[in-house]
Amino acid sequence: MTRTPWWRNAVVYEVYVRSFADADGNGEGDLQGIRSRLGHLRELGVDALWLTPFYTSPLADGGYDVADYRDVDPRFGTLDDFDALVADVHAHGMRLIVDIVPNHSSDRHRWFREALAAPPGSPARSRYIFRSGKPGDRPGEEAPPNDWPSAFGGPAWTRVDDGEWYLHLYAPEQPDFDWRNPDVRHEFEDILRFWLDRGVDGFRIDVAAGLFKDESFRDLHGQDRRMPDGPIYSRPEVHDVYRRWRQILDEYDGDRMAIGEVWTDGPEDLALYLRPDELHQVFQFDLQLAPWSAMAFREVIDAALKAVAPTGAAPTWVLSSHDSVRHVTRYERQEGFQGIGLARAKAALLLLLALPGSAYLYQGEELGLPEVTDLPDDARQDPIFKRTNGEKAGRDGCRVPLPWSGRAEPYGFSPDGVRPWLPMPERWASMTAEAQASDPSSMLNWYREALALRRRLHGDLPEDLEWIDSPQTALFFRRGSLLFALNCGDNPVRLPAGTPLLTSTPLYGELLPGNTAAWLSSP
Ligand code: NOJ
Repeated sequence: MTRTPWWRNAVVYEVYVRSFADADGNGEGDLQGIRSRLGHLRELGVDALWLTPFYTSPLADGGYDVADYRDVDPRFGTLDDFDALVADVHAHGMRLIVDIVPNHSSDRHRWFREALAAPPGSPARSRYIFRSGKPGDRPGEEAPPNDWPSAFGGPAWTRVDDGEWYLHLYAPEQPDFDWRNPDVRHEFEDILRFWLDRGVDGFRIDVAAGLFKDESFRDLHGQDRRMPDGPIYSRPEVHDVYRRWRQILDEYDGDRMAIGEVWTDGPEDLALYLRPDELHQVFQFDLQLAPWSAMAFREVIDAALKAVAPTGAAPTWVLSSHDSVRHVTRYERQEGFQGIGLARAKAALLLLLALPGSAYLYQGEELGLPEVTDLPDDARQDPIFKRTNGEKAGRDGCRVPLPWSGRAEPYGFSPDGVRPWLPMPERWASMTAEAQASDPSSMLNWYREALALRRRLHGDLPEDLEWIDSPQTALFFRRGSLLFALNCGDNPVRLPAGTPLLTSTPLYGELLPGNTAAWLSSP
């Protein structure tokens, strides 16, 4: 029998570094802070951590604007801190995945400064995407080279002093690299080795589908920038890059891996990234995008399994991340009884953990944290908020620092007396990790219990699932000896036959209450 590599059915915990734990007291999380809280993660029962970018950065996009790919931003620590973190994570029996951001750098990156200082057509400019503009609508006016929008609002092009325009699919502080330039390719191969040599177990590849743009730079004419066969994402050339990266990963001992952030329109496209000589995993965001509905869940699960089936890769599942509204809030009802979001999130965890493949958790979901929707405008830092003139709230509401202990801000996130980089709500006093640890009915203890049971069961379960007939508001499936039941409706449904192992709210005899999930062992 072949050995299953660790990532195939791992539970990976996303650490949003800036908001996890602040050891040095500057109001922002850091690597030493993570080291000090590894016990929490070990006790929670996760297999691996994924760290969002901690590299030198002006933080125009929370660190996804990297100025130096081989160093740690002083706000987050030092390379020595990083080495100590890797050692500690491994000593705790966990793995470490780091983010890599190859689509764009910061505008403060040495290469971009050189590009700005150099004339049009120079080798320094050719590491980024500089183009001439087009005549504008009115005489004497100039328009950007094409109509591509930035994902954060406004056009994807900014004009520099000498009249050329550079491309940024995200903020203007994030110029896109030109991956047709071999310098870029070599630089990233070297960066991968730099972190592999320091002991990382894997990479999460940011904007993995975006590296190559169609050479025509043709207009979108209002069509979705992610449309199939569009000029921006999933151009065929990108796969050569991942083939090469896979060779590099394979040169190292241990099971080093890469997971791509690939937003795509189709399963065929997704499968290309998972060819045996490319990436090990891609994020499948379907569950995160689905509403609270048994039918919707069933559809997305089927589609996700179908998408990876021909590749032999294991599926990945995620409910929340640093880019989305926290799922406790998404699952809240628009009207009427508030509080249903928590019950649903408890049930959703059982779904996530019952599925084959790996599950990616986002920090704070183990505390049942909701989205913070009432941040004052002047506290918001996400470029989406500013670039849409406040029309879109942006992602700060899911990035509020974690409450660890105590009765008031900074709730043990920072040393007492320090103001965290985003304000923390007063209502979080009862939600700290400390308060929840001593409450057997807390979300934290629910996560610990579910993860522990998954760990006991998973090794023995087959990698596929079989649907079982269920009432319309519910979904039931079997994986070997495990039966899973979820009731998304409000009224109870009859449970399939089996012995209950874990349920998210108490059963009524043989009935599964509304908004509840159960694991049962098959008779
Ligand atoms: C995806 C990251 O998750 C997000 O936070 C970031 O803003 C964009 N990529 C751009 O790097």
